[in-house]
Amino acid sequence: MASSFVPKTFKNFIAGEWVSARKGGTLENRNPANTDELVGIFPASTADDVDAAVDAARLAYPKWRLTPAPKRAEILFRAAEILLGRKEDFARDMTREMGKVLAETRGDVQEAIDMTYLMAGEGRRQFGHVAPSELPNKFAMATRVPSGVAGLITPWNFPMAIPSWKAMPALICGNTVVLKPAEDTPLSTYNLTQVLEQAGLPPSVLNVVFGDGPEAGGPLLENSGVDLVSFTGSTATGRIVSEACAPTFKKCHLEMGGKNIIIVMDDANLDLAIEGAVWGGFGTTGQRCTAASRVAVQKGVYRKFVDKFVERAKALKVGDGLDPSTQMGPCINEQQLQTVMSYVEIGKAEGARLATGGHRLEGGAFAHGWFHEPTVFIDCNPSMRICQEEIFGPVVAVMPFDTFDEAIDIANGVQYGLSAAIYTRNVNHAFRAQQDLQTGIVYVNAPTIGAETHLPFGGTKNTGNGHREAGLAALDFYSEWKTIYVDYSDRLQRAQID
Ligand code: UN1
Repeated sequence: MASSFVPKTFKNFIAGEWVSARKGGTLENRNPANTDELVGIFPASTADDVDAAVDAARLAYPKWRLTPAPKRAEILFRAAEILLGRKEDFARDMTREMGKVLAETRGDVQEAIDMTYLMAGEGRRQFGHVAPSELPNKFAMATRVPSGVAGLITPWNFPMAIPSWKAMPALICGNTVVLKPAEDTPLSTYNLTQVLEQAGLPPSVLNVVFGDGPEAGGPLLENSGVDLVSFTGSTATGRIVSEACAPTFKKCHLEMGGKNIIIVMDDANLDLAIEGAVWGGFGTTGQRCTAASRVAVQKGVYRKFVDKFVERAKALKVGDGLDPSTQMGPCINEQQLQTVMSYVEIGKAEGARLATGGHRLEGGAFAHGWFHEPTVFIDCNPSMRICQEEIFGPVVAVMPFDTFDEAIDIANGVQYGLSAAIYTRNVNHAFRAQQDLQTGIVYVNAPTIGAETHLPFGGTKNTGNGHREAGLAALDFYSEWKTIYVDYSDRLQRAQID
Protein backbone atom coordinates (compact mmCIF):
# COMPACT_ATOMS: atom_id res chain seq x y z
CA MET A 1 0.00 0.00 0.00
CA ALA A 2 1.51 3.32 -0.99
CA SER A 3 1.75 5.81 1.83
CA SER A 4 -0.15 9.08 1.76
CA PHE A 5 2.87 10.74 3.33
CA VAL A 6 4.31 13.47 1.12
CA PRO A 7 8.08 13.14 1.00
CA LYS A 8 10.03 16.16 2.01
CA THR A 9 13.39 17.29 0.76
CA PHE A 10 15.85 18.01 3.55
CA LYS A 11 19.06 20.01 3.55
CA ASN A 12 22.43 20.13 5.23
CA PHE A 13 22.95 22.58 8.08
CA ILE A 14 26.13 24.55 7.41
CA ALA A 15 27.06 27.92 8.94
CA GLY A 16 23.55 28.31 10.29
CA GLU A 17 21.90 27.89 6.87
CA TRP A 18 19.94 24.98 5.45
CA VAL A 19 21.65 24.21 2.14
CA SER A 20 21.53 21.49 -0.53
CA ALA A 21 24.58 19.39 -1.33
CA ARG A 22 26.83 21.43 -3.62
CA LYS A 23 26.91 18.75 -6.28
CA GLY A 24 23.13 18.38 -5.99
CA GLY A 25 23.14 14.67 -5.13
CA THR A 26 20.41 13.18 -2.97
CA LEU A 27 19.73 9.99 -1.03
CA GLU A 28 16.33 8.49 -0.29
CA ASN A 29 15.35 7.65 3.26
CA ARG A 30 12.86 4.76 3.10
CA ASN A 31 10.90 2.97 5.79
CA PRO A 32 12.46 -0.48 6.33
CA ALA A 33 9.05 -1.87 7.34
CA ASN A 34 7.55 -0.64 4.06
CA THR A 35 9.99 0.49 1.42
CA ASP A 36 7.12 2.02 -0.58
CA GLU A 37 7.13 4.76 2.00
CA LEU A 38 9.63 7.47 1.21
CA VAL A 39 10.36 9.16 4.53
CA GLY A 40 12.40 11.94 2.98
CA ILE A 41 15.05 12.93 0.48
CA PHE A 42 18.38 13.99 1.97
CA PRO A 43 21.54 15.52 0.54
CA ALA A 44 24.26 13.17 -0.67
CA SER A 45 27.10 15.34 0.54
CA THR A 46 30.63 15.20 -0.78
CA ALA A 47 33.99 16.70 0.20
CA ASP A 48 32.88 20.24 -0.83
CA ASP A 49 30.03 20.20 1.66
CA VAL A 50 32.11 18.64 4.40
CA ASP A 51 34.92 21.15 3.91
CA ALA A 52 32.44 24.05 4.07
CA ALA A 53 31.01 22.62 7.29
CA VAL A 54 34.48 22.24 8.82
CA ASP A 55 35.40 25.81 7.77
CA ALA A 56 32.25 27.09 9.46
CA ALA A 57 32.97 25.12 12.61
CA ARG A 58 36.54 26.45 12.68
CA LEU A 59 35.35 30.05 12.36
CA ALA A 60 32.82 29.58 15.15
CA TYR A 61 35.28 27.93 17.48
CA PRO A 62 37.12 30.96 18.98
CA LYS A 63 33.87 32.52 20.20
CA TRP A 64 32.21 29.30 21.36
CA ARG A 65 35.37 28.29 23.20
CA LEU A 66 35.16 31.46 25.26
CA THR A 67 31.40 31.35 25.82
CA PRO A 68 31.07 30.53 29.53
CA ALA A 69 30.13 26.89 29.97
CA PRO A 70 27.07 27.75 32.13
CA LYS A 71 25.79 29.80 29.17
CA ARG A 72 26.37 26.93 26.76
CA ALA A 73 24.51 24.82 29.29
CA GLU A 74 21.43 27.06 29.14
CA ILE A 75 21.12 26.24 25.44
CA LEU A 76 21.44 22.53 26.11
CA PHE A 77 18.90 22.72 28.91
CA ARG A 78 16.42 24.44 26.57
CA ALA A 79 17.12 21.79 23.92
CA ALA A 80 16.33 19.03 26.43
CA GLU A 81 13.04 20.72 27.27
CA ILE A 82 12.10 20.98 23.59
CA LEU A 83 13.04 17.34 23.00
CA LEU A 84 10.86 16.31 25.92
CA GLY A 85 7.89 18.18 24.46
CA ARG A 86 8.36 16.60 21.03
CA LYS A 87 9.30 13.11 22.19
CA GLU A 88 6.32 11.36 20.67
CA ASP A 89 6.66 12.98 17.22
CA PHE A 90 10.37 12.25 17.12
CA ALA A 91 9.82 8.65 18.20
CA ARG A 92 7.31 8.16 15.38
CA ASP A 93 9.67 9.68 12.84
CA MET A 94 12.39 7.37 14.10
CA THR A 95 10.27 4.24 13.84
CA ARG A 96 9.42 5.20 10.28
CA GLU A 97 13.03 5.59 9.25
CA MET A 98 14.66 2.91 11.40
CA GLY A 99 12.00 0.30 12.06
CA LYS A 100 12.38 -0.37 15.77
CA VAL A 101 9.17 -0.44 17.79
CA LEU A 102 7.71 2.74 19.24
CA ALA A 103 8.47 1.83 22.84
CA GLU A 104 12.12 1.62 21.83
CA THR A 105 12.21 4.78 19.73
CA ARG A 106 10.64 6.61 22.68
CA GLY A 107 13.51 5.19 24.71
CA ASP A 108 15.99 6.42 22.10
CA VAL A 109 14.64 9.97 22.27
CA GLN A 110 14.60 9.69 26.08
CA GLU A 111 18.26 8.70 25.99
CA ALA A 112 18.96 11.89 24.00
CA ILE A 113 16.98 13.90 26.56
CA ASP A 114 18.88 12.30 29.45
CA MET A 115 22.22 13.02 27.83
CA THR A 116 21.27 16.61 27.05
CA TYR A 117 20.19 17.32 30.64
CA LEU A 118 23.27 15.53 31.96
CA MET A 119 25.63 17.62 29.84
CA ALA A 120 23.69 20.80 30.62
CA GLY A 121 24.51 20.03 34.26
CA GLU A 122 28.18 19.74 33.33
CA GLY A 123 28.06 23.41 32.29
CA ARG A 124 28.36 24.24 35.98
CA ARG A 125 30.82 21.48 36.81
CA GLN A 126 33.54 20.27 34.42
CA PHE A 127 35.63 20.21 37.54
CA GLY A 128 39.37 20.33 37.25
CA HIS A 129 41.74 19.96 40.15
CA VAL A 130 43.90 22.13 42.31
CA ALA A 131 46.94 20.46 43.80
CA PRO A 132 49.57 21.69 46.27
CA SER A 133 52.81 22.75 44.61
CA GLU A 134 56.11 21.38 45.84
CA LEU A 135 57.41 24.96 46.02
CA PRO A 136 56.27 27.75 48.35
CA ASN A 137 54.10 30.57 47.04
CA LYS A 138 53.21 28.66 43.92
CA PHE A 139 49.75 27.61 42.81
CA ALA A 140 49.04 24.53 40.67
CA MET A 141 45.86 23.48 38.95
CA ALA A 142 44.56 21.54 35.97
CA THR A 143 41.49 22.65 33.98
CA ARG A 144 39.58 21.22 31.08
CA VAL A 145 39.80 23.06 27.76
CA PRO A 146 38.10 22.16 24.48
CA SER A 147 39.97 20.44 21.66
CA GLY A 148 38.61 22.40 18.69
CA VAL A 149 36.44 20.99 15.93
CA ALA A 150 34.82 17.63 16.58
CA GLY A 151 33.94 15.38 13.62
CA LEU A 152 31.19 12.97 14.66
CA ILE A 153 30.13 9.94 12.65
CA THR A 154 27.06 8.15 14.00
CA PRO A 155 25.24 4.86 13.26
CA TRP A 156 21.64 4.11 12.33
CA ASN A 157 20.64 1.89 15.27
CA PHE A 158 20.35 4.71 17.82
CA PRO A 159 19.54 7.59 15.47
CA MET A 160 19.03 10.29 18.10
CA ALA A 161 20.65 8.85 21.22
CA ILE A 162 24.13 8.35 19.76
CA PRO A 163 24.34 11.75 18.01
CA SER A 164 23.46 13.23 21.44
CA TRP A 165 26.03 11.09 23.27
CA LYS A 166 28.64 12.70 21.06
CA ALA A 167 27.33 16.20 20.27
CA MET A 168 26.23 17.20 23.79
CA PRO A 169 29.53 16.56 25.58
CA ALA A 170 31.42 18.04 22.61
CA LEU A 171 29.35 21.24 22.82
CA ILE A 172 29.38 21.64 26.59
CA CYS A 173 33.16 21.33 26.62
CA GLY A 174 33.35 24.19 24.09
CA ASN A 175 34.10 22.35 20.87
CA THR A 176 32.32 23.13 17.64
CA VAL A 177 30.91 20.22 15.70
CA VAL A 178 30.47 18.69 12.28
CA LEU A 179 28.10 15.74 12.48
CA LYS A 180 27.68 13.12 9.75
CA PRO A 181 24.81 10.76 10.64
CA ALA A 182 24.18 7.37 9.05
CA GLU A 183 22.52 7.58 5.64
CA ASP A 184 19.78 5.17 6.75
CA THR A 185 18.47 7.40 9.53
CA PRO A 186 19.06 11.07 8.75
CA LEU A 187 15.63 12.33 9.87
CA SER A 188 16.31 11.86 13.58
CA THR A 189 19.51 13.88 13.31
CA TYR A 190 17.62 16.52 11.36
CA ASN A 191 15.10 16.69 14.22
CA LEU A 192 17.86 16.98 16.80
CA THR A 193 19.59 19.71 14.80
CA GLN A 194 16.39 21.72 14.52
CA VAL A 195 15.91 21.47 18.26
CA LEU A 196 19.40 22.80 18.94
CA GLU A 197 18.85 25.63 16.47
CA GLN A 198 15.55 26.48 18.15
CA ALA A 199 17.19 26.32 21.56
CA GLY A 200 19.49 29.15 20.45
CA LEU A 201 22.72 27.44 19.50
CA PRO A 202 24.72 30.10 17.62
CA PRO A 203 25.18 29.55 13.86
CA SER A 204 28.12 27.34 12.82
CA VAL A 205 28.62 25.83 16.27
CA LEU A 206 26.89 22.67 15.04
CA ASN A 207 27.02 21.76 11.36
CA VAL A 208 25.35 18.71 9.88
CA VAL A 209 26.21 17.02 6.60
CA PHE A 210 24.10 14.14 5.40
CA GLY A 211 25.49 11.44 3.16
CA ASP A 212 27.22 8.11 3.11
CA GLY A 213 30.50 6.95 4.62
CA PRO A 214 32.88 7.06 1.67
CA GLU A 215 31.62 10.36 0.18
CA ALA A 216 30.82 12.35 3.31
CA GLY A 217 32.43 10.53 6.23
CA GLY A 218 35.81 10.03 4.50
CA PRO A 219 36.40 13.75 3.80
CA LEU A 220 35.60 14.58 7.42
CA LEU A 221 38.40 12.26 8.54
CA GLU A 222 40.83 13.72 6.01
CA ASN A 223 40.10 17.36 6.75
CA SER A 224 42.99 18.94 8.67
CA GLY A 225 40.56 21.36 10.32
CA VAL A 226 39.08 18.54 12.37
CA ASP A 227 40.81 18.00 15.71
CA LEU A 228 38.97 15.01 17.09
CA VAL A 229 36.81 12.27 15.69
CA SER A 230 34.24 10.09 17.37
CA PHE A 231 32.86 7.12 15.47
CA THR A 232 30.35 4.41 16.30
CA GLY A 233 29.97 1.55 13.84
CA SER A 234 31.55 -1.69 12.78
CA THR A 235 35.04 -2.80 13.73
CA ALA A 236 36.02 -2.98 10.05
CA THR A 237 35.04 0.65 9.47
CA GLY A 238 36.55 1.65 12.81
CA ARG A 239 39.91 0.43 11.61
CA ILE A 240 39.61 2.66 8.52
CA VAL A 241 38.67 5.62 10.74
CA SER A 242 41.60 4.98 13.04
CA GLU A 243 44.05 4.80 10.15
CA ALA A 244 42.63 7.95 8.57
CA CYS A 245 43.09 9.84 11.85
CA ALA A 246 46.63 8.63 12.44
CA PRO A 247 48.66 10.74 9.98
CA THR A 248 47.49 14.03 11.48
CA PHE A 249 47.20 12.66 15.04
CA LYS A 250 43.52 13.40 15.36
CA LYS A 251 42.22 12.31 18.72
CA CYS A 252 39.99 9.41 17.84
CA HIS A 253 37.28 7.60 19.77
CA LEU A 254 35.96 4.33 18.35
CA GLU A 255 32.91 2.45 19.51
CA MET A 256 32.67 -0.76 17.51
CA GLY A 257 31.34 -4.29 17.44
CA GLY A 258 30.18 -6.65 20.15
CA LYS A 259 29.44 -10.34 20.70
CA ASN A 260 27.81 -10.02 24.05
CA ILE A 261 26.94 -12.95 26.26
CA ILE A 262 24.36 -13.79 28.87
CA ILE A 263 25.56 -16.51 31.27
CA VAL A 264 22.79 -18.43 33.00
CA MET A 265 23.87 -20.40 36.08
CA ASP A 266 21.98 -23.37 37.51
CA ASP A 267 21.02 -21.23 40.50
CA ALA A 268 19.53 -18.40 38.40
CA ASN A 269 15.95 -17.20 38.52
CA LEU A 270 15.24 -18.98 35.25
CA ASP A 271 12.13 -17.07 34.21
CA LEU A 272 13.96 -13.80 34.74
CA ALA A 273 16.92 -15.06 32.71
CA ILE A 274 14.64 -16.11 29.85
CA GLU A 275 12.90 -12.75 29.84
CA GLY A 276 16.28 -11.03 29.82
CA ALA A 277 17.59 -13.19 26.99
CA VAL A 278 14.52 -12.43 24.85
CA TRP A 279 14.85 -8.70 25.44
CA GLY A 280 18.64 -8.69 25.09
CA GLY A 281 18.65 -10.87 21.98
CA PHE A 282 15.67 -9.60 20.04
CA GLY A 283 15.18 -6.03 21.30
CA THR A 284 15.97 -3.61 18.44
CA THR A 285 15.85 -6.72 16.21
CA GLY A 286 19.25 -7.63 17.63
CA GLN A 287 20.68 -4.49 16.03
CA ARG A 288 22.48 -3.14 19.07
CA CYS A 289 26.18 -3.31 19.64
CA THR A 290 25.15 -4.44 23.13
CA ALA A 291 22.75 -7.17 21.87
CA ALA A 292 22.91 -10.53 23.66
CA SER A 293 23.72 -12.63 20.62
CA ARG A 294 25.18 -15.44 22.76
CA VAL A 295 23.64 -17.21 25.71
CA ALA A 296 25.61 -19.78 27.71
CA VAL A 297 23.51 -21.96 29.99
CA GLN A 298 24.74 -24.31 32.72
CA LYS A 299 23.85 -27.93 32.03
CA GLY A 300 21.49 -28.39 35.00
CA VAL A 301 18.97 -25.92 33.55
CA TYR A 302 19.95 -26.09 29.88
CA ARG A 303 16.97 -28.08 28.54
CA LYS A 304 14.46 -26.13 30.57
CA PHE A 305 15.97 -22.83 29.44
CA VAL A 306 16.13 -23.82 25.80
CA ASP A 307 12.53 -25.04 25.69
CA LYS A 308 11.09 -21.89 27.20
CA PHE A 309 13.43 -19.48 25.42
CA VAL A 310 12.67 -20.97 22.01
CA GLU A 311 8.96 -20.86 22.76
CA ARG A 312 9.20 -17.19 23.71
CA ALA A 313 11.27 -16.31 20.62
CA LYS A 314 8.80 -18.12 18.36
CA ALA A 315 5.88 -16.20 19.86
CA LEU A 316 7.36 -12.74 19.24
CA LYS A 317 5.13 -10.64 17.02
CA VAL A 318 7.15 -9.22 14.15
CA GLY A 319 5.88 -6.28 12.12
CA ASP A 320 5.69 -2.54 11.64
CA GLY A 321 7.04 -0.84 14.75
CA LEU A 322 4.23 1.75 14.65
CA ASP A 323 1.70 -0.98 15.45
CA PRO A 324 1.53 -1.07 19.27
CA SER A 325 1.20 -4.86 19.27
CA THR A 326 4.48 -5.37 17.38
CA GLN A 327 7.35 -6.70 19.48
CA MET A 328 10.11 -6.80 16.87
CA GLY A 329 10.59 -4.65 13.77
CA PRO A 330 12.49 -5.21 10.53
CA CYS A 331 16.20 -5.20 9.77
CA ILE A 332 17.41 -1.76 8.73
CA ASN A 333 18.00 -2.51 5.07
CA GLU A 334 18.39 -5.22 2.47
CA GLN A 335 22.10 -5.64 3.06
CA GLN A 336 21.59 -6.21 6.78
CA LEU A 337 18.86 -8.73 6.07
CA GLN A 338 21.19 -10.53 3.64
CA THR A 339 23.87 -10.64 6.34
CA VAL A 340 21.41 -12.23 8.76
CA MET A 341 20.33 -14.77 6.15
CA SER A 342 23.91 -15.65 5.32
CA TYR A 343 24.71 -16.27 9.00
CA VAL A 344 21.71 -18.60 9.25
CA GLU A 345 23.30 -20.66 6.48
CA ILE A 346 26.69 -20.48 8.16
CA GLY A 347 25.19 -21.71 11.46
CA LYS A 348 23.45 -24.62 9.76
CA ALA A 349 26.59 -25.58 7.88
CA GLU A 350 28.60 -25.47 11.11
CA GLY A 351 26.25 -27.99 12.69
CA ALA A 352 24.37 -25.72 15.10
CA ARG A 353 20.75 -26.79 15.61
CA LEU A 354 18.21 -24.32 14.30
CA ALA A 355 15.50 -24.39 16.97
CA THR A 356 13.26 -21.66 15.59
CA GLY A 357 13.25 -19.03 12.83
CA GLY A 358 15.84 -19.01 10.12
CA HIS A 359 13.79 -17.42 7.37
CA ARG A 360 13.04 -14.09 5.87
CA LEU A 361 9.40 -13.11 6.40
CA GLU A 362 7.66 -12.47 3.10
CA GLY A 363 4.25 -11.68 1.65
CA GLY A 364 1.28 -9.90 3.22
CA ALA A 365 2.28 -7.32 5.80
CA PHE A 366 5.94 -8.26 5.25
CA ALA A 367 5.90 -7.86 1.46
CA HIS A 368 7.68 -4.51 1.34
CA GLY A 369 9.96 -4.70 4.36
CA TRP A 370 13.23 -6.26 5.48
CA PHE A 371 11.75 -8.67 8.02
CA HIS A 372 13.39 -11.78 9.42
CA GLU A 373 12.12 -14.33 11.91
CA PRO A 374 13.51 -14.30 15.44
CA THR A 375 16.08 -17.08 15.16
CA VAL A 376 17.61 -19.34 17.80
CA PHE A 377 20.46 -21.78 17.29
CA ILE A 378 20.97 -24.25 20.12
CA ASP A 379 23.68 -26.75 21.10
CA CYS A 380 26.25 -24.39 19.64
CA ASN A 381 29.96 -24.70 20.09
CA PRO A 382 31.73 -21.50 21.24
CA SER A 383 34.16 -21.64 18.34
CA MET A 384 31.46 -21.54 15.66
CA ARG A 385 31.35 -18.41 13.55
CA ILE A 386 27.81 -17.66 14.77
CA CYS A 387 29.27 -17.60 18.31
CA GLN A 388 32.26 -15.48 17.35
CA GLU A 389 31.17 -12.91 14.76
CA GLU A 390 28.85 -9.97 15.14
CA ILE A 391 25.67 -10.61 13.13
CA PHE A 392 23.67 -7.50 14.11
CA GLY A 393 20.31 -9.15 13.63
CA PRO A 394 17.71 -11.32 15.37
CA VAL A 395 19.91 -14.40 15.75
CA VAL A 396 20.85 -15.87 19.15
CA ALA A 397 23.29 -18.75 19.65
CA VAL A 398 22.79 -20.86 22.79
CA MET A 399 25.65 -22.92 24.24
CA PRO A 400 25.72 -25.40 27.15
CA PHE A 401 28.51 -25.36 29.75
CA ASP A 402 29.50 -27.31 32.88
CA THR A 403 31.40 -25.05 35.25
CA PHE A 404 31.56 -21.35 36.11
CA ASP A 405 35.18 -21.16 34.91
CA GLU A 406 34.17 -22.64 31.57
CA ALA A 407 31.46 -19.99 31.20
CA ILE A 408 33.95 -17.19 31.83
CA ASP A 409 36.33 -18.69 29.25
CA ILE A 410 33.51 -18.87 26.70
CA ALA A 411 32.51 -15.29 27.49
CA ASN A 412 36.07 -14.00 27.07
CA GLY A 413 36.87 -16.15 24.05
CA VAL A 414 35.83 -13.61 21.43
CA GLN A 415 37.52 -10.63 19.82
CA TYR A 416 35.02 -8.18 21.33
CA GLY A 417 34.49 -6.84 24.85
CA LEU A 418 31.49 -4.56 25.14
CA SER A 419 28.87 -6.02 27.47
CA ALA A 420 28.29 -9.26 29.39
CA ALA A 421 25.66 -10.49 31.82
CA ILE A 422 25.31 -13.22 34.40
CA TYR A 423 22.14 -14.56 35.95
CA THR A 424 22.86 -16.12 39.32
CA ARG A 425 21.70 -15.97 42.92
CA ASN A 426 25.14 -16.87 44.18
CA VAL A 427 26.94 -13.74 45.33
CA ASN A 428 30.35 -15.34 44.81
CA HIS A 429 29.57 -16.06 41.17
CA ALA A 430 28.22 -12.56 40.68
CA PHE A 431 31.33 -10.92 42.08
CA ARG A 432 33.77 -13.25 40.35
CA ALA A 433 31.98 -12.62 37.06
CA GLN A 434 32.22 -8.83 37.32
CA GLN A 435 35.90 -9.28 38.19
CA ASP A 436 36.83 -11.70 35.39
CA LEU A 437 34.63 -10.76 32.43
CA GLN A 438 36.78 -8.79 29.98
CA THR A 439 34.11 -6.30 28.95
CA GLY A 440 33.50 -2.60 29.50
CA ILE A 441 30.02 -3.28 30.90
CA VAL A 442 28.83 -6.13 33.15
CA TYR A 443 25.27 -6.79 34.26
CA VAL A 444 24.18 -9.05 37.11
CA ASN A 445 20.64 -10.38 36.76
CA ALA A 446 19.86 -8.08 33.85
CA PRO A 447 20.48 -8.46 30.11
CA THR A 448 23.42 -6.96 28.18
CA ILE A 449 21.47 -3.97 26.86
CA GLY A 450 20.16 -0.86 28.56
CA ALA A 451 23.15 1.25 29.57
CA GLU A 452 22.31 4.52 31.31
CA THR A 453 23.68 7.85 30.12
CA HIS A 454 25.45 8.97 33.28
CA LEU A 455 27.89 6.04 33.43
CA PRO A 456 30.79 5.31 31.08
CA PHE A 457 29.87 3.32 27.97
CA GLY A 458 32.31 1.37 25.85
CA GLY A 459 34.31 -1.79 25.55
CA THR A 460 37.63 -3.54 25.46
CA LYS A 461 39.53 -5.49 22.77
CA ASN A 462 38.17 -4.94 19.24
CA THR A 463 35.14 -3.09 20.59
CA GLY A 464 36.98 0.11 21.43
CA ASN A 465 40.25 1.97 21.48
CA GLY A 466 40.45 2.81 25.15
CA HIS A 467 38.07 5.74 25.35
CA ARG A 468 34.58 5.75 26.82
CA GLU A 469 31.56 7.80 25.99
CA ALA A 470 28.66 8.97 28.17
CA GLY A 471 28.97 9.86 31.84
CA LEU A 472 31.90 11.90 33.06
CA ALA A 473 34.16 9.77 30.85
CA ALA A 474 32.78 11.71 27.86
CA LEU A 475 34.37 14.88 29.22
CA ASP A 476 37.76 13.20 29.14
CA PHE A 477 37.42 12.61 25.43
CA TYR A 478 35.93 15.96 24.46
CA SER A 479 38.38 18.09 26.43
CA GLU A 480 42.10 18.39 26.97
CA TRP A 481 43.78 18.94 30.30
CA LYS A 482 45.61 22.22 30.65
CA THR A 483 47.92 22.45 33.64
CA ILE A 484 48.56 25.92 35.03
CA TYR A 485 51.25 26.99 37.50
CA VAL A 486 51.19 30.44 39.04
CA ASP A 487 54.32 31.41 40.90
CA TYR A 488 53.72 34.36 43.23
CA SER A 489 57.04 34.17 45.08
CA ASP A 490 58.70 36.90 42.97
CA ARG A 491 61.81 34.81 42.55
CA LEU A 492 62.99 31.99 40.31
CA GLN A 493 61.99 28.70 41.87
CA ARG A 494 63.22 25.49 40.31
CA ALA A 495 61.03 22.42 40.57
CA GLN A 496 62.88 19.22 41.45
CA ILE A 497 66.03 21.26 42.22
CA ASP A 498 65.42 23.80 44.94
C1 UN1 B 1 24.44 0.67 20.64
O1 UN1 B 1 23.93 -0.39 20.42
O2 UN1 B 1 25.24 1.16 19.83
O3 UN1 B 1 22.93 0.01 26.30
C2 UN1 B 1 24.13 1.51 21.82
C3 UN1 B 1 22.15 0.00 25.35
C4 UN1 B 1 21.71 1.32 24.77
C5 UN1 B 1 22.72 1.84 23.83
C6 UN1 B 1 23.17 0.88 22.77
N1 UN1 B 1 21.50 2.25 25.84
O4 UN1 B 1 21.74 -1.03 24.86
